[in-house]
Amino acid sequence: MVNAVALREKLIREAEPDLSWQEVAVLLESKDKELEEAFFMRAKAIRDKFIGKKAYFRGLVEMSNICAKNCLYCGIRADNAEPHRYKMSFQEVMDACQFAYERGYGSVVLQSGEISSVAFINEITDLLTAIQQKFDGRLRVTLSCGEQSEETYQRWYDAGAHRYLLRIETSDPEFYRAIHPNDRHHDFEERVNCLRLLRKVGYQVGSGIMIGLPGQNYAAVARDLMFLKEMDVDMVGMGPYIEHEETPLWERRDQLWPLRERLAAGIKAVAALRILMKDINIAAATALQAIDPKGREQALDVGANVIMPNLTPIEYRKDYSLYENKPCTDEDRGMCSVCLEGRVKSIGLEVARDQWGDSIHYHDRQKKS
Ligand code: 5AD
Ligand code: SF4
Ligand code: FES
Repeated sequence: MVNAVALREKLIREAEPDLSWQEVAVLLESKDKELEEAFFMRAKAIRDKFIGKKAYFRGLVEMSNICAKNCLYCGIRADNAEPHRYKMSFQEVMDACQFAYERGYGSVVLQSGEISSVAFINEITDLLTAIQQKFDGRLRVTLSCGEQSEETYQRWYDAGAHRYLLRIETSDPEFYRAIHPNDRHHDFEERVNCLRLLRKVGYQVGSGIMIGLPGQNYAAVARDLMFLKEMDVDMVGMGPYIEHEETPLWERRDQLWPLRERLAAGIKAVAALRILMKDINIAAATALQAIDPKGREQALDVGANVIMPNLTPIEYRKDYSLYENKPCTDEDRGMCSVCLEGRVKSIGLEVARDQWGDSIHYHDRQKKS
């Protein structure tokens, strides 16, 4: 049994405390204000020491909502006939990158549904080559295009992508099967293997989870955080699960924690992970803002150091509807940019400009090996 008083004292006393998964579970679940205060104070101090009082911007480009998969939670799953399917043109993606570059973001995240056709692989390769040429390597590119072969990952790496995001979603294989169709396209081991391949190719590897899925409990989230630590990832994006009416998981909405609780757990998961993994990049997920207008600031205030302004053209935003209530569907990239800079400054962080903002963890790992 974890003693909450002793845990609070440990967080106050030790600059870099080691946490067991049981302690993390208590931190996620506890509503004790004194414990929470010590917990957040420690997480923030670790971020300030290892990363600094700053936030990196990554321009998020939702290139296409066409997806071959059918994750049971996701609004753009292949079997959902509702969203209008779109694909941004080559020029539209380049324009979004130009905007990021001019604003001094230093980095973009190119995201899409999962497709593995030769045409798609070639298009991404061409885009990466063009971005390298146009910005002369000054714009770091993160890809988030799902599970691919080692050869494809290598090709994209060689064409200029240096970071890759692939959320594991949950680290429990059985639970993974409960929130995905049971077929070879949705295989837990395959996904873990992709994370290994990305590492092998040389990417800065990002992963993450959803928090507050139906049937999930705090112990499961705590073990997920331990999994991210064991995988030694360089970057994490994780956020609350938000139900979507046009998905199979909607049926299980009566098992969900209230939205406020999912928000609180999402924020606490960021703080706990910051204590577990001191020098990685942790994003303040957009889904937090879908629950509370100040959700992303709260995450930045307890240890996150990355925020992703949405650069997707306004006409496509409503169609990239992974979950309900997604923020900023009526705001253009200029508005989001100014808005988020204000939000970052409002909690006393500096916006890091014209920097790649690579994961310190990644570079330390490279030095060690
Ligand atoms: N609620 C919150 N996050 C979701 N994602 C997909 N569907 C949802 C949802 N309903 C997340 C997944 C995926 C990322 C692109 O979006 O974690 O990896
Ligand atoms: Fe496709 Fe990703 Fe949605 Fe799964 S979560 S259906 S892979 S876009
Ligand atoms: Fe998009 Fe505030 S973040 S308008």
